[in-house]
Amino acid sequence: MTFSLLYSTALIMKLMDSFFFLALVPLALALENGLMRTPPMGWLSWERFRCNTDCKSDPHSCISEKLFMDMADRLATDGWRELGYVYVNIDDCWMAKERSATGQLIPDPERFPSGIKALADYVHARGLKLGIYGDMATLAPSLVEGTLWGVDMLKFDGCYSSSDVQAQGYPKMSRALNATGRPIAYSCSWPAYRGGLPPQVNYTLLANICNLWRNYGDIQDSWDSVLSIVDWFSANQDILQPVAGPGHWNDPDMLIIGNFGLSCEQARSQMALWTIMAAPLFMSTDLRAISESAKEILKNKLMIKINQDPLGIQGRRILQEKSHIEVFLRPLSHSASALVFFSRRTDMPYRYTTSLAQLNFTQDVVYEAQDVYTGQIISGLKAADNFTIVVNPSGVVMWYLYPTMYLDQYNIMAHLKIF
Ligand code: GLA
Repeated sequence: MTFSLLYSTALIMKLMDSFFFLALVPLALALENGLMRTPPMGWLSWERFRCNTDCKSDPHSCISEKLFMDMADRLATDGWRELGYVYVNIDDCWMAKERSATGQLIPDPERFPSGIKALADYVHARGLKLGIYGDMATLAPSLVEGTLWGVDMLKFDGCYSSSDVQAQGYPKMSRALNATGRPIAYSCSWPAYRGGLPPQVNYTLLANICNLWRNYGDIQDSWDSVLSIVDWFSANQDILQPVAGPGHWNDPDMLIIGNFGLSCEQARSQMALWTIMAAPLFMSTDLRAISESAKEILKNKLMIKINQDPLGIQGRRILQEKSHIEVFLRPLSHSASALVFFSRRTDMPYRYTTSLAQLNFTQDVVYEAQDVYTGQIISGLKAADNFTIVVNPSGVVMWYLYPTMYLDQYNIMAHLKIF
């Protein structure tokens, strides 16, 4: 696309101003931005830094350009960017209370003295991308500015908007973003406002207009909050699982690993379960102060490879045992799979015995499993073989499982497959 920036900005203003015109735009203009073929990865300010605008008392942690520059520095310097964590995303509370003389939303001049364009340049110079946040109730002008500022992603929230306004506004914004000619990933919070069991959401439409969407309530810094999200996603997996894929993802919200609410086991569980769900990996933690153990979880290369699997198939919970062990499975490319054995127990490490046959794996294959956290390899595993794993309370054992040999009807190695 070859729109000039000014031309595209003017175009969006026109589009956003004229709903009647937009109503005539055919659906073929739905999201076609080619972005996020694998779940996006990066950093988002909200869960950890919230709406702290008190830069006088708390200059280190308030929502200011310095915070985002610091995080961009950390992503670029501490090895995160190379692993795929490339988005630096501003959430709420970046705006000034007053609009500009021309009626446009502007960043708070004290907290963002250099402006958003300078921040985008800073982030881009480090090989990263900048995301920004807006709410439907106030957004149209900020989108226009956002395009001008060179942002790469928009999180479009739906607070204070009726369902009718949302039903018009989310597709309308998608078309406006497409019309800019600039690749701007689009995160929709629409379904989070239409929750319930089952969710009252047209997911087919969402997958056509958004790159990702928040399905459920906000994550908080607690294990209960993580569990409530896992419960809701599992209860609704028949609806949610089929709609995810390259370019369009369910978003169970940010990773809270590195903060205060999770034990090490629970942090490992969040990472494993988010990976099984093919979820976006947006960290919301202070990367200037993160512990080595949290880093190790977030930087696990095999985990990231599984999360970023090119097939982009979301996994499912396949089994809930009476012992309170749950098994999750995600199909991956090259006939591989990711398996998560998750303990909801609160007593002690549990010795769980099962076989791949009990998990519906094919009989005529010899498998190898790599434990994603310990690196241990288990070879020569046939579907009928029983195995026992030890799962800690609120923890997981996670396997990357792949076939190494196919057997013929006499159980003789018929075919050796190398990946
Ligand atoms: C909503 C969203 C959160 C965050 C806040 C900001 O609650 O779901 O992720 O963006 O708004 O106010």
